[in-house]
Amino acid sequence: DLVLICFIAWISNLNFQWLSHLRGRWRSGGWWAEDMDCPLECDCPSAYPTAMYCHNRNLQHVPYVPSHIKYVYLQRNQITGIQDGVFDNATSLIWVVLFHNQLSSDKIGKNVFSKLKNLDRLYLNHNELTRVPPNLPKSITDLRLGHNKISKISGSFEGMTNLTNLQLHANFIEDVGGAFKGLKSLTMLDMRKNKLKKVPENLPARLQQLYLEFNNIEAVPAGFLSMCPKLQFVRLAHNKLTDKGLPANVFNISTLVELDLSHNKLERIPTVSRNLENLYLQANTIKEFSLGSFCSTVDMKTFSMLKMLRLDANQINAKDIPAEAAYCLRRVAFIDV
Ligand SMILES: *[C@@H]1O[C@H](CO)[C@@H](O)[C@H](O)[C@H]1NC(C)=O
Ligand SMILES: *[C@@H]1O[C@H](CO)[C@@H](O)[C@H](O)[C@H]1NC(C)=O
Ligand SMILES: *[C@@H]1O[C@H](CO)[C@@H](O)[C@H](O)[C@H]1NC(C)=O
Repeated sequence: DLVLICFIAWISNLNFQWLSHLRGRWRSGGWWAEDMDCPLECDCPSAYPTAMYCHNRNLQHVPYVPSHIKYVYLQRNQITGIQDGVFDNATSLIWVVLFHNQLSSDKIGKNVFSKLKNLDRLYLNHNELTRVPPNLPKSITDLRLGHNKISKISGSFEGMTNLTNLQLHANFIEDVGGAFKGLKSLTMLDMRKNKLKKVPENLPARLQQLYLEFNNIEAVPAGFLSMCPKLQFVRLAHNKLTDKGLPANVFNISTLVELDLSHNKLERIPTVSRNLENLYLQANTIKEFSLGSFCSTVDMKTFSMLKMLRLDANQINAKDIPAEAAYCLRRVAFIDV
């Protein structure tokens, strides 16, 4: 009985989070019998023998990761740094999830991740990083670095030929230099909310989605879309684009499906391809409705694939739209002016 009383006293000292955590273990077969090779502060459920759950636990350090673990969840803790060697025995790791911590670049060892030859996903978003951690494994396909304090990225992604998804939104990046050179698998690049003054040049050829909203972009380089023949979604809303900054036909690219140019300083509707489906131009200073921007000739056979056209919060109204627009824009149900 004394043992039981001590046990209850011990249990009642623990906070609710720990209690529910232990109960979880108890239910899954009793913690004595549980995998001994799991750090006390984490859960390693037998139903998922290669996963280790350590999220939401006020942790300040990365616990020991046993070598059979492939997926480690460390998000929403207070981890400020990671020393070299911490993951050295965990070379099977495929996912490392570390978002919503307090990681700072000065406290991350130079080779923390370098031995993880199988690493596929690394989530470091919502931390305090000022640099991309060095020596990242070339095997990574999904790298999330959004919501940090990163300003320079040149050289950070060298040789990452399998990288398909790169998130860098909400950082302090002004210039990308040659950072994206050689990223031949990259399909999605998110650079919203940075300090870019221009659209990055030399974007990877396989890119499909490019998100650049909330930067200071004034101009778009001529032909930037023709170098990315797979680009389907281009979002440039909330920038400083003017007509002067847009070379003729820069958006007249047949692969483009969606173009968001809303909340800029455009006075004219740029020429777009007849294949474009969604065009957002609201909150600019557009003064005229130029049908030639959608259809170079207007007849019964040539028409635009456009379905969504937003022109509200500009300086035009419904009576500025010519009657011929009905032939060219026959798929647009309603033009928002
Ligand atoms: C890694 O494993 C070796 C051998 O099993 C052990 O001696 C060493 O202490 C482990 N390293 C860490 C950082 O746990
Ligand atoms: C990229 O992926 C392929 C196929 O999964 C793999 O064979 C190759 O080793 C990977 N490259 C790198 C640099 O990890
Ligand atoms: C847009 O590009 C197509 C195909 O390259 C071309 O035929 C068309 O004339 C261009 N539109 C304008 C308005 O220049």
